[in-house]
Amino acid sequence: MSLRAIKYENNSLEILDQLLLPAQSKYIQVRGVEDGWKVINKMQVRGAPAIAIVGCLSLAVELKKEKFESKKQMRQEIEGKLNYLVSSRPTAVNMKIAAEELIDLANQLSKDEAVTLDDMKTKFLQTIEDMLTKDIADNKAIGDIGAKQILSRVSGDSLVRILTHCNTGSLATANYGTALGVIRTLHGMKRLEHVYCTETRPYNQGARLTAYELVHDKIPATLIVDSMVAAAMKHRHITAVVVGADRVAANGDTANKIGTYQIAVLAKYHDIPVYIAAPFTSVDMSIPSGDHIVIEERPDREMTHVGEHRIAAKGIACWNPAFDVTPASLIAGIITEKGVFRPEQLREQFGQHN
Ligand code: MRU
Repeated sequence: MSLRAIKYENNSLEILDQLLLPAQSKYIQVRGVEDGWKVINKMQVRGAPAIAIVGCLSLAVELKKEKFESKKQMRQEIEGKLNYLVSSRPTAVNMKIAAEELIDLANQLSKDEAVTLDDMKTKFLQTIEDMLTKDIADNKAIGDIGAKQILSRVSGDSLVRILTHCNTGSLATANYGTALGVIRTLHGMKRLEHVYCTETRPYNQGARLTAYELVHDKIPATLIVDSMVAAAMKHRHITAVVVGADRVAANGDTANKIGTYQIAVLAKYHDIPVYIAAPFTSVDMSIPSGDHIVIEERPDREMTHVGEHRIAAKGIACWNPAFDVTPASLIAGIITEKGVFRPEQLREQFGQHN
């Protein structure tokens, strides 16, 4: 059975505490928006799609318990709480896009005279709950489309070797994963020879979370530290790099976990294609390029300590940006649930679908 980062049943929301993995599997109860904000901000749940789903479900849990006097009051509370959730982490766009869509929905329902207060609540909660199933379906589509794309680059029945960064699997999404979903599908098709996953300093999502998922799912994999990427590309015949995204700008520039940019630069040198696997909810058409993406900076402690153990010299200054932006020119394609697009095709696609 695959790992579950988010459990939502009978209006009870629990998340797997990713700060404790892989040593302990412990679920934490999320009782409302305040808890939702905290678990996202502390990175007990992380990964762009999972952040949005947990944020919105924390609102669902809270709304279900609350009694409203009017649709207007409910609409105002929804808007305030969603804006608060968006402030929990700045770089991943999925929570912001979900908040905008839900605020629009609340506005429409509140204006529609045929909709009662109870109807408004039911419809609103249903829309949030549907996010879980939609995310899994999108990830499976990304897996199929991405696997086909990568296999189209190799001859006959050859097996492929993928390098990935950070964690984009069941732990970062409702389930299955984006980049890790592509890897999972290739494995299911028996076309995956091997995966190389980076440690992903400083939070170690690769060593702690991706390695855990790969071992759990018996996918052939090897962990490398971030500084081994060039050597792996030179000596291990990597077919493609597949990573996720926290925010894709309209021109295809992509913010993802710190280190993605340097992997893309190295891939260019070694003539290895870099694919971004991400749902349409990670694309931010409101910004023209990656220069407009706010990069979250995290506490020094994530760099200076491993768990409780200090590894850096006391007194040293640290710079800890959690993400970097890979320019569109280094990206071979963006694998979405609707197909694979070259970065410059995104504008056209959004014109058609949105
Ligand atoms: O800081 P994190 O762990 O939330 O960063 C996660 C990433 O950068 C992922 O690659 C991205 O969110 C895509 S998850 C499907």
